[in-house]
Amino acid sequence: MAGRIPKNFIDDLISRTDIVDVIDSRLKLKKKGKSYRARCPFHNGNNDSTFSVSPDQQFYHCFNCGVSGNVVSFLMDYDGIEFVDAVEVLAEQLSIEVPREESGHTQPATTYVDRKDLYQLMADITRFYQQQLRTHKHSEKVINYLKSRGLSGETTKHFQIGYAPDGWDEVRKKFAINKQLEQQLIDAGMLISKDSGGSYDRFRDRLMFPIVDRRGRVIGFGGRVFDDTTPKYLNSPETPIFHKGKELYGLYQVKQHEKDVKRILVVEGYMDVVALGQFDIHYAVASLGTATTPDHIQLLFRQTSEVICCFDGDSAGRTAAWRALENALPSIQDGRTLRFMFLPDGEDPDSLVQKEGKAFFEKLVDQAMPLSDFLYQHLLTQVDMRSADSKSKLAQLAIPLLTKLPDSVFRQMMETRLISLLGIEKEGLKKLLPAPTKLEKRPTSKKITPMRLAISLLLQNPQMAYQLDEIPEFKEMQIPGLTLLNSLLEICRDTPHLSTGLLLEHWREQPQEKQLIALATWNNQVQEDKYEQVFFDILDNFLSLHLTQRIEFLKQKSRQGEVLTTEETVQLAQLLKEQKQH
Ligand code: UTP
Ligand code: MN
Repeated sequence: MAGRIPKNFIDDLISRTDIVDVIDSRLKLKKKGKSYRARCPFHNGNNDSTFSVSPDQQFYHCFNCGVSGNVVSFLMDYDGIEFVDAVEVLAEQLSIEVPREESGHTQPATTYVDRKDLYQLMADITRFYQQQLRTHKHSEKVINYLKSRGLSGETTKHFQIGYAPDGWDEVRKKFAINKQLEQQLIDAGMLISKDSGGSYDRFRDRLMFPIVDRRGRVIGFGGRVFDDTTPKYLNSPETPIFHKGKELYGLYQVKQHEKDVKRILVVEGYMDVVALGQFDIHYAVASLGTATTPDHIQLLFRQTSEVICCFDGDSAGRTAAWRALENALPSIQDGRTLRFMFLPDGEDPDSLVQKEGKAFFEKLVDQAMPLSDFLYQHLLTQVDMRSADSKSKLAQLAIPLLTKLPDSVFRQMMETRLISLLGIEKEGLKKLLPAPTKLEKRPTSKKITPMRLAISLLLQNPQMAYQLDEIPEFKEMQIPGLTLLNSLLEICRDTPHLSTGLLLEHWREQPQEKQLIALATWNNQVQEDKYEQVFFDILDNFLSLHLTQRIEFLKQKSRQGEVLTTEETVQLAQLLKEQKQH
């Protein structure tokens, strides 16, 4: 397992990168005052300047849909990649290597260099399989098979499909030329080690479908037999570079085809994706034989706003679809659509598109069932609406599901639909909804408290606290939010040229992250040239408050007849003097 990336490396990387360059190479930015503007890539608006990038803050923010973040967040969301990959993209641009901390586990930490080697190895093997497709003595059999499945040379090449020759050590012979490489091939899942020592090829006499990650690197394979032997498909095992539940077959090709992906169709099999590609339908991905996981759904919605999940029309298909629905609910924010497509009996997307053609198939895609319909339709099959307790049963089934939805217009519509099905008043539903949903509501109503204002001013202009003296009183006081302010001050104090984007990086995936981002983008109505003054006024106020509290405490103590220590008496006199000065 690769070790963690050291935090100070990430900080350094962000401070050496200019967010404006990174975003400008992907969206065209226009300068407007102190910031740069563009059309927001994260929602479908037609205003060209709601998306604002601040070079000073190293932070972006859309005034319309509210997305915001630093350069790492931008890469994650725009390129649809994970955190570690975003860090690697930035490092690559600066031509530096990403260091890894030694992990304390028994397993030796795989260094980045090793991982890079694994990718290279997989690329070389992919090419080898592709060559075998044309040159191996069984080449004719393989090519005939591809033809029988209706696949052209072009499609085969587009998906880098190849042939794993029969024989126990074709890959081993060619690639495991020393012990270290043999071990790496075992790590990559390409060789299987024998108990008696040595190893042999995992994939033999199979049609090979490379599984490519979002950056186009081959990370695993699926291999199909040519006859009825089982297993029909053999897949790479979990390896340091391949995590089945997080990958989608064909996603890289979808993004290659279209930068701005309008919709993505999720199907079951490798062949389905490839056959749809053959028919010029370039927006299909496959979930590698597993159920659609929450990770998949999140990944998909980072690439597109509309996801259509395709299932068999039989009861197993319905069950799988329902699981996908449950996994997806937390990701359904406004502006995202999830629909369900059920295939005619006995067909899969491959067979259907071969039989009926592109236009017919796409008509079915267009007619896919909206999530709301599927949800209620399914629930209504579970409840006998003629029975006396049918309504309470329906409510019982529906409410936990609706509760999973984020707060949104969509959720309100779903609730309205439930209300009308139940035939109750809106207030009635409120009583049925469990209490936690109310607490879950995001703190959107921002009351202006001095603490909030101070934190937001500091987040928006972290440099004003550079080299600020420590304020020991702040360690003793108990005001809500002060611990957070202290942590912020600590970083700002020590870091020259600190930007908002870099400062927020310290809270990535921390419980306070959302709150901090909200405050960093909050229009606090303070004029820019008044930031420092207002900020330090608030700090002063906290100090006076502390003074007052301490004086009160000591006075109270002596009033209650307790004898103050000499130290306390001196302190009280001093505090009173200080208070006069304030
Ligand atoms: P299917 O059995 O529906 O195969 O498995 P398919 O996609 O229609 O393939 P063809 O048309 O017969 O060639 C669907 C998916 O389930 C996984 C694979 O990802 C496959 O694409 N699967 C299936 C396996 O991983 N192993 C198997 O043995 C079978
Ligand atoms: Mn099939």
